[in-house]
Amino acid sequence: MNDKEMVAHHAAQKIKEGMIVGLGTGSTANCFIEALAKRHHQEGLQVKTVSSSVVSAIKARELGLPLIAIEQLTGLDVYVDGADEVAPDMTLLKGRGFDLVREKLLAGASREFWVLIDPGKRVSRIGERYPIPVEVIPFAWQMVRESLAAIGGKAELRQTANKDGLVVTAHGSLVLDTVFAETFDSHKLDTVLNGIPGVVEHGIFSHLASAVFCAKDGRVEEQIA
Ligand code: 5RP
Repeated sequence: MNDKEMVAHHAAQKIKEGMIVGLGTGSTANCFIEALAKRHHQEGLQVKTVSSSVVSAIKARELGLPLIAIEQLTGLDVYVDGADEVAPDMTLLKGRGFDLVREKLLAGASREFWVLIDPGKRVSRIGERYPIPVEVIPFAWQMVRESLAAIGGKAELRQTANKDGLVVTAHGSLVLDTVFAETFDSHKLDTVLNGIPGVVEHGIFSHLASAVFCAKDGRVEEQIA
């Protein structure tokens, strides 16, 4: 088992009969979907799942996990996903993918949010390795870029991998990847970004994670909020 499979297996073992489980998006979340499907088939573990993305929904369906539509839910038991950066206080940076809106919605609506990582995701402060992804309403991108500049952020529209178009998220937003020259307080920045008109969502997940599971040297460390 590699680190991602190990941490995914660890999380899947904690899922209990009857739970509504939110499925994250990304390579680590994929390992979790596989581990959960294995328990569903081998042990008869009955769960319902809700997906944060079309990709995860397809994977869950292919593996035979019962899926319910996000529209039918008012809450869920646990949301399980990876992250791009994890600060010591369990603030996260997410959103290298296209599904930030659903990811944060599910993380916030869940009784628990478990984050699956390897030590390479740990940082001393959010924004250390990656820009902050800010999803914007397409027609508002220039105004939001000005608002971000006013608080010290240099924002660039995210382009496709071969730079022949702009990335459009699952929610239909553009993404302003934003770098701040000064060190910032991620909780304050979270609040400020939430208040900028035209911002749909952003990648700082503050006070949302209830546990971080980190695979290290063949075992899984648990950090609980
Ligand atoms: C997508 C995410 C992913 O969870 C994050 O990018 C981690 O992905 P991976 O598990 O492939 O490293 O936030 O928006």
